[in-house]
Amino acid sequence: MSTVLVKGGTVVNATGAVAADVLVDGEKIVAVLEPGSTLLGSDLAGSADTVIDATGKYVIPGGIDAHTHFSLPFGGTQAVDDFDTGTRAAAWGGTTSVIDFAVQRYGERVEDGLAKWHDMAGGNAHIDYGFHQIIGGVDEESLKAMEGLVDEGITSYKLFMAYPGVFYSDDAQILRAMQKAREFGLMTMMHAENGPAIDVLAAQLAESGKTSPYYHGIARAWQMEEEATHRAIMLADVTGAPLYVVHVSAKQAVAQLAAARDAGKNVFGETCPQYLYLSLEKQLGASSEEWGDFEGAKWVCSTPLRSEEEGHLDAMWQGLRTNDLQMVSTDHCPFCMKDQKELGKDDFRAIPNGIGSIEHRVDLLYQGVVDGRITLSRWVELIATTPARMFGLYGKKGVIQPGADADIVVYDPNGHTSIGVDKTHHMNMDHSAWEGFEIDGHVDVTMSRGAVLVQDGEYVGTKGRGQFLKRGLTQYLV
Ligand code: URP
Ligand code: ZN
Ligand code: ZN
Ligand code: ZN
Repeated sequence: MSTVLVKGGTVVNATGAVAADVLVDGEKIVAVLEPGSTLLGSDLAGSADTVIDATGKYVIPGGIDAHTHFSLPFGGTQAVDDFDTGTRAAAWGGTTSVIDFAVQRYGERVEDGLAKWHDMAGGNAHIDYGFHQIIGGVDEESLKAMEGLVDEGITSYKLFMAYPGVFYSDDAQILRAMQKAREFGLMTMMHAENGPAIDVLAAQLAESGKTSPYYHGIARAWQMEEEATHRAIMLADVTGAPLYVVHVSAKQAVAQLAAARDAGKNVFGETCPQYLYLSLEKQLGASSEEWGDFEGAKWVCSTPLRSEEEGHLDAMWQGLRTNDLQMVSTDHCPFCMKDQKELGKDDFRAIPNGIGSIEHRVDLLYQGVVDGRITLSRWVELIATTPARMFGLYGKKGVIQPGADADIVVYDPNGHTSIGVDKTHHMNMDHSAWEGFEIDGHVDVTMSRGAVLVQDGEYVGTKGRGQFLKRGLTQYLV
């Protein structure tokens, strides 16, 4: 086994920051050595095979992106990053674990969907990966199959209150799935938007000639998110199941989560970088020479981008600061403009939903530290530690401490990252949702289980080295 010493940096965990060297032996962290330490391992450090100089830099646990959709079939097409390109781009951006969504739909077997995802990921992932299970068709068979998920290391599943005819579940189905989740210890992840009502609004807009991407945001009004969030909270409450609401974007939905938490309910919320930085006005309503007002299609995702003027973006930052929101995942679901987003050129309802951000989440959240939105430790907590605790990986992942996997990122606060398709773009889309964003920081080194994947601006990782993470139950509940 070879040893690596990450030397001279500031180790940042969710609990705080300390000057320390980190000693890696094989795939594990074996010691965190503060200056003058006489701890076991100090001798070993002197003779490490490789030394990585982290002077003036932060040494953080590798990012965990708990919401990705590699190769998701959606809207008659398929997300363009697979486990190879997607996890490689993740590593470039300091993310060393992903939890992707295996898919089951009506008439399909859960076991088949899961097996398909294992097939797609195995031998292709550059970093470690786990799965959540989408239950897109709640019936007797899928409810029965939920009973076996924990044994498979799949300890969370997602339901949709949106997308009628695709993944949608009605209240009766949701209630039954939550009862099953409560019984078997699964975390329920909810896409909380009132899909049937949204579809009516969307049809009315389209029929009156309002067909551009901007109207995707108008149809998916914040009331539809607030209402569904409230309903999900109540359904979870009556079953006693914990609830994790994904991709929160409306300030009123955060208020629902906050009120539920204040009332003592086990309710959690995730937002995404797009809801922190991108808006209905600037992006969804954008036009360009190339695309006209179809430019906004680049940012069609659900929940939609919200109005900055109405304060939704500020509310997301505030929720992160006050822990009414616990995590930031990307909901990475990339589609190209050409041939994919273009499907909805004449009708926003046909634009495949999704934005690609897997490469930029760690950077975009670090900018929140620079801008005084969150603390350094909160940054690490949001991008790595809470995802690990929420989804049963903590100790192995999400922390720099002896015994943990050596998933380590050396982050340079004096470095700089310019985002754009001609600059740092390793995702598979033909555009970047983050074109022109400037980050006052830089991922210098990414290590996954002791192996360097990114260093000195070079990619040296290996396709297929990523391992399946058989996850435990959530560690976020008493
Ligand atoms: O627009 C989105 N979010 N696409 C991915 C599917 C989902 O709802 O998470
Ligand atoms: Zn969703
Ligand atoms: Zn998603
Ligand atoms: Zn640098």
